[in-house]
Amino acid sequence: MKKTKIISLPDLNEARAKKDKINYIHQDIVYDEFLANFLNGKKYLIKTHGCQANQRDSETLAGMLDFYKMTSTDDPHDADIIIINTCAVRENAEDKVFGEIGNLKALKEANKDLIICVCGCMVLQSHIISKLIDTYKQVDLIFGTHNIPEFLNLLKQAIIENIRLVNVISSAGDVFEINADDRKDSYKAFVNISYGCDKFCAYCIVPYTRGRERSRLKEDILNEVNCLIKKGYKEITLLGQNVNSYGKDLYKDYDFSNLLEDVAKTGIERLRFITSHPWDFNDKMIDVISKYDNIMKYIHLPVQSGSTRILKLMNRRYTKQDYLNLVDKLRSKIKNLSLSTDIIVGFPNETEEDFQETLDLVDKVKYDSAFTFIYSKRVGTPAAKINDTVSDKEKSERFLRLVKKLEEYISKKAETYVGTIQKVLVDGFSKKNKNILSGYTEDNKLVNFKGDPSKIGKIIKVKIIESHTYSLIGEEVDE
Ligand code: 5AD
Ligand code: SF4
Repeated sequence: MKKTKIISLPDLNEARAKKDKINYIHQDIVYDEFLANFLNGKKYLIKTHGCQANQRDSETLAGMLDFYKMTSTDDPHDADIIIINTCAVRENAEDKVFGEIGNLKALKEANKDLIICVCGCMVLQSHIISKLIDTYKQVDLIFGTHNIPEFLNLLKQAIIENIRLVNVISSAGDVFEINADDRKDSYKAFVNISYGCDKFCAYCIVPYTRGRERSRLKEDILNEVNCLIKKGYKEITLLGQNVNSYGKDLYKDYDFSNLLEDVAKTGIERLRFITSHPWDFNDKMIDVISKYDNIMKYIHLPVQSGSTRILKLMNRRYTKQDYLNLVDKLRSKIKNLSLSTDIIVGFPNETEEDFQETLDLVDKVKYDSAFTFIYSKRVGTPAAKINDTVSDKEKSERFLRLVKKLEEYISKKAETYVGTIQKVLVDGFSKKNKNILSGYTEDNKLVNFKGDPSKIGKIIKVKIIESHTYSLIGEEVDE
């Protein structure tokens, strides 16, 4: 049995603290003879859970392994290194990860040389680390979201010393520009604009797992966008837990509206951004979105609840009416705006009246799409301390009622697409049917359609002939 060596363990208090000074560090991978010999020709599998921030991290990790001429595989039996990049936002995401790691036990027993790594948001919680160390002996390396820049060194140490290694630091470190990239898609890309979050919504673990907010330098973002355009990328999504607060930690007179405008001016064909926080959305941002044709008229604007009482408990910093006013302003200034949202049902002690406020808000906003969640208690967050009297059964019933209402509006909206011609960026073949292509409209509707496979990676016109709640059916239109 391998020994476990702990370099650092996570600490919620450290995670909460803001660093006085952030350093901006450009890091190239330094060639290492041992790793070159050890990794060359081997295969890796990276399983990514959770949000786009994790997807970007996985791309960086893949880039580091590609540097040593490893190739990726989808088959765990074929892999020499398996990395599980985890999500901590809700308990069911964590349960899935434990199931997955559990399933790797037999694989590890059959192949002692297999290296299993666990990273991402889950391991920033000390109770998770204890469980992994004590119960999941098949795991060789555990590293946190702030330890990604040193991943290759940790891997080398775990191999050379033949140990199980744990290194999870909690204090959000500096901003690293790592020269390693293996993007999953060839036509659309996520570009981080900031890391972490300063909002501390009462239910949310993200500020603890990803640290305090750190904006990237605008020059680094614009460089990355320009490189992607040169490589032929058609769509860029600017990424941050709260994009609207971009720059507040870094510049006096350069905010998200300036960045959005500068990125739009690069001429990228499609520009998107997620996630928006209503509290930080200002008029300048709305003006820029309406001014540039290449900024897609689709905004993901999480509301979380329609009850002002619950919003206050959630520490969301806006009332139901503030949110509705913002939606009115957005819709009046941005033509044909498509809106989506996140809603949490069953925040501790949410009453039927609170829930009715959420239903009422949905009736007023009539979202184009939505993500709905049942509240999940996260250890260490302020909401976890509230004594909750609402039963799980009640929460599940509310959840179903909410989904039903949302789906009525989403379906109705989808029907209005039938007969229209939409511009679609063709992603590739549909997951379910290899004779069908799929892609997204400008306002982020999934379209499955018959068309010419040589159009993959291009923006083409598709006539919509049928609608479903979560997708449209179409056919390519000749130019
Ligand atoms: N329980 C349920 N949903 C949550 N989210 C964040 N934290 C929790 C939690 N503890 C949801 C929010 C957020 C989305 C990414 O996940 O709606 O916007
Ligand atoms: Fe979590 Fe709130 Fe930050 Fe979003 S804005 S990541 S919900 S703390």
